[in-house]
Amino acid sequence: MRDTVRFLLGDALIEIANCDPTLTVLDWLRLERRLTGSKEGCAEGDCGACTVVVGRLDRGRLRYEAINACIRFLPTLDGCQVLTVEHLKGPDGSLHPVQQAMVDCHGSQCGFCTPGIVMSLFALWLNEDAPSVARIEDALAGNLCRCTGYEPIIAAALRMSSGGHDRPDYEAVTARLHDLEDDETLALSGPGGHFFAPATVEELADLVAAHPQATLVAGATDVGLWVTKGMRRLDPVISLGRIAALREIADRGDRVVIGAMATHAEVRPVLASLSPQLDELMRRFGGEQVRNAGTIGGNIANGSPIGDLPPALIALGATLVLRRGGEQRQIPLENFFLDYRKQDRREGEFVEAVIVPRPGPDALIHVSKISKRFDEDISAVCGAFLLRLNSAGRIAEARLAYGGMAGTPKRAAAAEAALTGRRWDEAAVNAAIAALASDFTPLSDMRASAGYRLTVAGNLLRRFLIETTQPDVETRVAGQLAEAAHG
Ligand SMILES: Cc1cc2nc3c(=O)[nH]c(=O)nc-3n(C[C@H](O)[C@H](O)[C@H](O)COP(=O)(O)OP(=O)(O)OC[C@H]3O[C@@H](n4cnc5c(N)ncnc54)[C@H](O)[C@@H]3O)c2cc1C
Ligand code: FES
Ligand code: FES
Repeated sequence: MRDTVRFLLGDALIEIANCDPTLTVLDWLRLERRLTGSKEGCAEGDCGACTVVVGRLDRGRLRYEAINACIRFLPTLDGCQVLTVEHLKGPDGSLHPVQQAMVDCHGSQCGFCTPGIVMSLFALWLNEDAPSVARIEDALAGNLCRCTGYEPIIAAALRMSSGGHDRPDYEAVTARLHDLEDDETLALSGPGGHFFAPATVEELADLVAAHPQATLVAGATDVGLWVTKGMRRLDPVISLGRIAALREIADRGDRVVIGAMATHAEVRPVLASLSPQLDELMRRFGGEQVRNAGTIGGNIANGSPIGDLPPALIALGATLVLRRGGEQRQIPLENFFLDYRKQDRREGEFVEAVIVPRPGPDALIHVSKISKRFDEDISAVCGAFLLRLNSAGRIAEARLAYGGMAGTPKRAAAAEAALTGRRWDEAAVNAAIAALASDFTPLSDMRASAGYRLTVAGNLLRRFLIETTQPDVETRVAGQLAEAAHG
């Protein structure tokens, strides 16, 4: 066991013994290192003022990603490199091309959110040459500019160039991060509580069995808020972030096996290969910072009735792989959600992977996320549907899954029965819509009223019919799907 967290802050090696398990990266940067460029706007992952860029080894290759420092726990940076806005200037003190473009285009307005915006653009600058406006908007969706002055910021993003400014030395950083890797479990113990970060699935299984009440932390995009907003003290914490095997995504021909720790950014291309509508869903999942940290396993295990992935995965017929000690069990994903925030996760068990069957070309698929804001918002209703027609043109299989309609993500069994055996036409849709009222008694809350939810749930079936039978009719905000498909 190792009791010291090790990571790079810029070029400097940082070693901290027994730090508080839930100390946020932002608090550490600002309060302990006095690196006050990264700001705290919301402390809940929404505004992006705290954005930093983290480098990590992904299958041996260095990958840089923007994340929200306000909800990330410091010890989970073990083995990574952190870059803040203070690290951008050149050796001669000159502005980075991203910063210079922001100055030239008057992109810095209030100034408070600017460092976060610069860091999101820096991540884009590192990873993509000549990004399109659509990509720039995507990269900035997790950065709220309250003065709504996005035009000059986007102009700056279009203008940023390499400008002769040095990129990180990928080879040198890769070698240094390799040196930080080991198979020892990181085990911290201090006044703030206990923290474990195993390096293997086997070690994780042993730890979860030994500490069944521990809080498991994946990307912390839910758990982080329990601390920053809920003021909860979590002890012990077990982080899954060092286990490479849990991040694996394997194509098995007729199915894809996705490790629980695969992030939304990593899962997006896999789901997009199954349907462009899944690509759009993932594009609208949080902002880029949330997609870089949040995981498929966390989205499922959290058990939220408005989580976006469960309805889509249930419609596709996904199977959940759970593990306790050396034992694995597999269940249909829909059976995992028992009641509001009550999941079929037994003591000592954790989510290991999700198996998603490839739907094949004959399946009709539809996914719609309905939220008040287009970007970075939680669903009021999410509908995901899969239909298979037989050779006579009748519905042989119907899987209709909804989020936001009940205390759990749930299939619409009565509506599915109303469709099965019928032709896929307006009469069938009307029958299914009538049946939805017996499937769901939705709640009214700040996101939507019960009546709105029920109406929308039915209208999504109408949209599905129109999209599959009248492809020329516009059913979405113009160009939305095409943009999602072409990035
Ligand atoms: C700004 C913002 C925007 C968001 N937007 C969306 C959105 O558009 N759609 C949406 O669905 N969600 C959204 N979320 C919620 C969140 O990002 C997702 O639920 C995310 O997938 C959680 O994954 P995580 O890895 O961060 O989980 P964590 O926060 O680390 O964990 C979440 C829960 O799952 C448990 N857990 C994690 N991994 C495992 C495992 N392998 N086995 C067992 N238990 C485990 C944890 O103990 C905890 O109970 C948003 C959050 C924020 C902050
Ligand atoms: S402070 Fe708002 S996202 Fe972190
Ligand atoms: S530049 Fe800060 S709110 Fe717009």
